[in-house]
Amino acid sequence: MTDIAIRFEGAGKTYPDGTTAVEALDLEIPRGSLTVFVGPSGCGKTTSLRMINRMVEPTSGTVTVEGRDVTSVPAHELRRSMGYVMQQSGLLPHRTVVDNIATVPRLNGVPRRQARERARELLATVGLDASLAGRYPAQLSGGQQQRVGVARALAADPPVLLMDEPFSAVDPVVRQDLQRELLDLQQRLHRTIVFVTHDIDEAVLLGNRVAVFAEGGRLAQYATPEELLRAPADDFVADFVGRDRGFRSLTFVPAHDLPLHPVAVVRPDGAEGVVGPGSVPAGGWVLQVDDDGAPRGWLRPGAGGAPLVGGTLHRPGGSLRSALDAALSSPSGLAVAVDDAGRAVGVLRATEIVAAVERERQAQPSGTAAP
Ligand SMILES: Nc1ncnc2c1ncn2[C@@H]1O[C@H](COP(=O)(O)OP(=O)(O)OP(=O)(O)O)[C@@H](O)[C@H]1O
Ligand SMILES: [Mg+2]
Repeated sequence: MTDIAIRFEGAGKTYPDGTTAVEALDLEIPRGSLTVFVGPSGCGKTTSLRMINRMVEPTSGTVTVEGRDVTSVPAHELRRSMGYVMQQSGLLPHRTVVDNIATVPRLNGVPRRQARERARELLATVGLDASLAGRYPAQLSGGQQQRVGVARALAADPPVLLMDEPFSAVDPVVRQDLQRELLDLQQRLHRTIVFVTHDIDEAVLLGNRVAVFAEGGRLAQYATPEELLRAPADDFVADFVGRDRGFRSLTFVPAHDLPLHPVAVVRPDGAEGVVGPGSVPAGGWVLQVDDDGAPRGWLRPGAGGAPLVGGTLHRPGGSLRSALDAALSSPSGLAVAVDDAGRAVGVLRATEIVAAVERERQAQPSGTAAP
């Protein structure tokens, strides 16, 4: 076996009414990777995804999964070997939550008790309360239904997971939770996941690779998130990737060689000290820390007035984006670096962070290329 799980070769779909949903698509999806299809509404994401499990048959070209042309595999067999989370939750209305989740394992011959037991575990995995197990889909919120849809797709433990905008109906906070859970899950399970979204930020966060689709089902770019932000293939992609592209691309640049500077600190009992290498001259900004040494806020030079709310924190292994944001959001202009336990270990200076950004830019082939 090669390391390619799914391969589109000239795969296209033109509907009987003449709509070309997907132009001849060439795309290779590595096994064990999370690949995102992203693009504006109507650009063929769902159609492309459905060509993988034969819910849509290509009108040209081929799609192969693990080397087999999907049209040679009976559709029901193909679908049971893949988890599928639909754009609308797609739950069976007359079955309870737990039986919805257990559907495919039951079809695969898993005894009812065992399938339900596993379904209850999966409820917890997607962050739903066990008390929901006996409800019907109509008795759940849209976001809860989507979580059940994700649990159902995971139930058969499939090697391939197709997810069509699975997090679109939930609020931003829940959405972040679900994204984090998916990344955790993927780190443990290494499934081949194809994930559709129209949200470029979600694509960049989740994807090992991202396929950007344009109007008319054209594949505009297929690249790592980093490449996408740094070197969009054309104006369409650049536009779609959108604002703050330069700043966001710093997410992928580690900030490991930035010099750490000392900072004056004061503890809740009033004890003063310094964290970081060396000493600091008196009279500058003072960082308030709690009893454990975690940052709490800043005191202006001269110590007048109430402490100011601190900026974001730069954590170990953080990127240049995190370092720069920590500096820009800090009242002192100094980025507070913390250790794994959240204790302040020193500060980074904005000028040095920007210098690192510039070094990084010059090291990139695209950094010196003509516009
Ligand atoms: N059964 C169909 N018959 C005719 N045209 C269709 C059919 N299904 C989809 N289309 C058209 O194909 C194009 C691609 O649709 P598709 O559902 O793949 O888009 P999408 O990228 O998933 O969009 P969205 O982000 O809105 O979900 C659209 O123009 C759509 O109207
Ligand atoms: Mg769609």
